[in-house]
Amino acid sequence: MIDTENLTKKFGDSIAVDSVTLHVGRGEVFGFLGPNGAGKTTTVRMLACLVSKSSGSATIGDYEIADRADQPKIRKMIGLLTENVGLYEELSAYDNLDFYGRYYKLGEQERKERIQYLLKLLELWDRKDSAAGTFSKGMKQKLAIARALVHDPEVLFLDEPTANLDPEASKTVRDFILELKKEKRTIFLNTHLLDEAERVCDRVAILKTRLITTGSPQDLRRSLTARKVKIQLQRLDGAVISSVKEMGYQVGEATANSIVVTLKDPEVDNPAILRAVQKAGGNVVFVSEVGSSLEDVYLKLVRED
Ligand SMILES: Nc1ncnc2c1ncn2[C@@H]1O[C@H](COP(=O)(O)OP(=O)(O)OP(=O)(O)O)[C@@H](O)[C@H]1O
Ligand SMILES: [Mg+2]
Repeated sequence: MIDTENLTKKFGDSIAVDSVTLHVGRGEVFGFLGPNGAGKTTTVRMLACLVSKSSGSATIGDYEIADRADQPKIRKMIGLLTENVGLYEELSAYDNLDFYGRYYKLGEQERKERIQYLLKLLELWDRKDSAAGTFSKGMKQKLAIARALVHDPEVLFLDEPTANLDPEASKTVRDFILELKKEKRTIFLNTHLLDEAERVCDRVAILKTRLITTGSPQDLRRSLTARKVKIQLQRLDGAVISSVKEMGYQVGEATANSIVVTLKDPEVDNPAILRAVQKAGGNVVFVSEVGSSLEDVYLKLVRED
C-alpha cells in the first residue's frame, strides 16, 4: 500500500532521508522509529505530498507521489497527523472538523455523524463549541487526530499521535488505532514510544537518515544475543539454581525468592526452564522479562550505526 524505493530528501547539502526502501502492506500498522532528526517527519511529509522528494520514488496504492495528477488522489485517500497541528485557532472544534469534512466533500449528514462520533470518542464533545485556540496542548492533539480521520481515510500517517496526551487519552488513541487496523486501514506511525510500537505495530523500522533495520518487534528482539528473564518463586533454594545452571544457562542476581536467568530466546527456552525449576521443587509465582527488550535493540542498533 505504501512502497518506497531509494526515497531521498536533501535540504541544500544535507541529506535528511537517504535511500529509504520500504513496503507497507494493506491493513498493516507500521511503526517508524528513530532518534530526533532521523528523518521520520520528512519521510511522512514526502509520502503525504507536502514536500517534494529529491530522488527515488514512492507510491501510495496505485498513485505516485511525484505525479501531479496523482497528488490530489493521494491527499483524498490519506489522513495525516503532523507535528504542526494545522487547526484554525479561531474556529470551534466542531467547525474545524466541519471545514475539513467539506474540503473532502462529505455530505452534510455524513459530516454530522463523523464529527459527533470522533469528538465523542476523543472526549471533546462537551467542548465542541470552544475555539481551538483556547484548547490545551493535549486537547489540540486530540482535535488534530479527529481532523486526520474525519474523511475515514484508507491510509493514515500519524506523526507521534500520543505526544502531549495523558495516559488515558493515549490509551484511547492506541485502542482506536487497533480498531482501525481491524478495519484493514493501513497505518504509518512515527513514534518515540517503543512500548507503544510494541503494542500496536505489526512491523517496525528504525531510521537514522538511512534505514537501519525493519522487522516485527519479535524479530528485532530475537536479534539480541542476550535477554534476561526473572523467575519469582515462593522460595528459592540451591536445588533450583543448580537445575537451571545444569541446563547451561547463566544465573545471576538471586534473592530469597527470585533468580535472573540470561538466555537468548525466552519464547523458546522458558517452558523447559520452568519445568526444570518445578522438578527441583520450586513453586513459580511470576515470570517476567527484565528491561524492555525492544528498547535494548533500539539503543544497540542506533548506537552502533
Ligand atoms: N524544511 C527544512 N529545511 C531544512 N532542513 C530540514 C527541514 N525539515 C527538516 N529538516 C532537517 O531534516 C532532518 C530530519 O528532520 P525530521 O523532522 O524529519 O526528523 P524526525 O525524525 O521527525 O525528528 P523528531 O523525532 O525530532 O521529530 C533534520 O536534520 C532537520 O533539521
Ligand atoms: Mg518528527
